[in-house]
Amino acid sequence: MNTETQNGALLSANLTVRYTGKPPVLRDVELEIREGEVLGLVGQSGSGKSTLAMAILGLLEKKRARAEGSIQFRNLDLLNLSERELRSLRGRTISLVLQSPLSSLNPALKIRTQLKEAWRAHAAGTGADCTNAIRACLRSVSLPDGEEFLRKYPSQMSVGQAQRVLIAMAVMHRPALLIADEATSALDVITQSEILELFRSLNRSTGTAILYISHDLASVAGICDRIAILHEGQIVECGATEQIFANPQHDYTRKLMAALPRVLPADTSPARKSEAAAAR
Ligand SMILES: Nc1ncnc2c1ncn2[C@@H]1O[C@H](COP(=O)(O)OP(=O)(O)OP(=O)(O)O)[C@@H](O)[C@H]1O
Ligand SMILES: [Mg+2]
Repeated sequence: MNTETQNGALLSANLTVRYTGKPPVLRDVELEIREGEVLGLVGQSGSGKSTLAMAILGLLEKKRARAEGSIQFRNLDLLNLSERELRSLRGRTISLVLQSPLSSLNPALKIRTQLKEAWRAHAAGTGADCTNAIRACLRSVSLPDGEEFLRKYPSQMSVGQAQRVLIAMAVMHRPALLIADEATSALDVITQSEILELFRSLNRSTGTAILYISHDLASVAGICDRIAILHEGQIVECGATEQIFANPQHDYTRKLMAALPRVLPADTSPARKSEAAAAR
């Protein structure tokens, strides 16, 4: 890679964010995302996870919030970019997948039209180039790439299929960073695990780094290389997934672990495993 920040970091943030007239939501948050990794960002509702995602995407101004510090992304400080520069990064170099697929898609437009718009936003080429790119990215998320599927409207798909379409749009231009903000929270458990597996396999096959945001420590455990814990506007702990589960350092992390469901037989849940290890 050409213009990385130090130590193989793709993104290095040091950030304070406040919404107008309010105390800071994020206070001197230090976060590093490494090239090609899946980093989990976990914290309870209101801890500032989406605010951090919006800061990276340069979308805070629209929400009347102000960011101070720096977000070094390769050789750019994202906080110093113009709106025009940010627009050329969003959806191409840094992309976003949100929680509710059906409300993120336009109900009035066929899937083909929406995929075409996503492609044309950052690529020039013939109609055939566009169709080939659309079909390839549908295949990459294990969706049908034929006419019948391309003619569908969002209401004619399952929620899981709609989420795959959004992920297809998000990875279409091979972003360096994909931010998934509670991207599986609205899905049933089976669909959730299929989509988690899809994120992991896209990460492995394309090298796209993923910032996987969730309030649910259990769901991040299976796919993340490292986990950062956000609590009351600060990253209180960050480390390799196994290390966080085996040896949580911060009280809040221990609380999160204690709250994990205990329904699995034969003590196979991560929390049980670490408890058992601690007791030995
Ligand atoms: N547009 C806004 N104006 C003022 N305050 C806001 C705004 N958006 C968020 N906040 C506040 O900032 C804090 C962090 O919100 P944020 O949405 O980043 O949390 P979160 O961790 O993503 O929560 P959740 O898990 O519920 O999505 C909350 O206290 C919230 O009330
Ligand atoms: Mg949020």
